Amino acid sequence: MKRAIFICIISIFMVVISSCGKENAVIENGVTDSVQNESEKKSSVQEKAGKVLVAYFTRNGNTDNGFPEGVDAVASASIQTDGGKMAGNAERIAGWIAEKTGGTIHAITTEEKYPSDYDKMVEQAKEEQSKGTHPDLVSEVEDFDSFQTLVLVFPNWWADLPMPVYSFFEEYDFAGKNIVVFCTHGGSGFSDTIRTIQELEPDAAVTEGLAIYHNDVAEAEDEVVEKLGELGIGK
Ligand SMILES: Cc1cc2nc3c(=O)[nH]c(=O)nc-3n(C[C@H](O)[C@H](O)[C@H](O)COP(=O)(O)O)c2cc1C
Repeated sequence: MKRAIFICIISIFMVVISSCGKENAVIENGVTDSVQNESEKKSSVQEKAGKVLVAYFTRNGNTDNGFPEGVDAVASASIQTDGGKMAGNAERIAGWIAEKTGGTIHAITTEEKYPSDYDKMVEQAKEEQSKGTHPDLVSEVEDFDSFQTLVLVFPNWWADLPMPVYSFFEEYDFAGKNIVVFCTHGGSGFSDTIRTIQELEPDAAVTEGLAIYHNDVAEAEDEVVEKLGELGIGK
């Protein structure tokens, strides 16, 4: 009888110890488990946010001649004026995120520039996508290993990531790090980009941020800041 009680106590003790170990594993890995619930997901970004890299790709700065004089920032829906400075939508969102997280901002830029003409650019992007071209980048992340969280901001291109963002993921390995994703779009939202990023970086914890419609970007700062707060990566 005494022996049976002893075995029973030991078994309960073992079960308690092993469940504590599982909780710690989620936080220590900083990698989202498929069964992890929302609050655990939030705490794993929070606990492990560490140093934040805010990388963005945008049309502005990646075209051959800049933008024509007198471009209508509202009509183009892709270029915003920020205190008189022309900024792409993704660039503006990234700027707010860097400010709020204290993160290091990084512009993903291609070696070969895209045509400034919108239609020609759209055509070229389609061709790159159908050929699976990954354009060479000139931008380099300094001290990459020191970052634990990437906040990525990009425009939806042809219901996908712009091809230079594929080049970016080819160059850097985010295993064991957090990736928080923001996009801007003309109606398609994220499309399937969250899943694509998780496939490109299978050992990273990928978390959805916000998909912001291009005409709403100028007014989106508060929403972005609120989302960062929810994710636990705002200052
Ligand atoms: C090459 C190209 C392809 C695009 N494809 C899509 C698309 O498939 N779906 C969508 O909703 N918006 C699409 N857009 C619109 C952009 O995602 C949107 O205007 C975005 O806000 C632009 O951001 P940016 O100023 O940072 O470049 C496309 C824009 C370009 C230039």
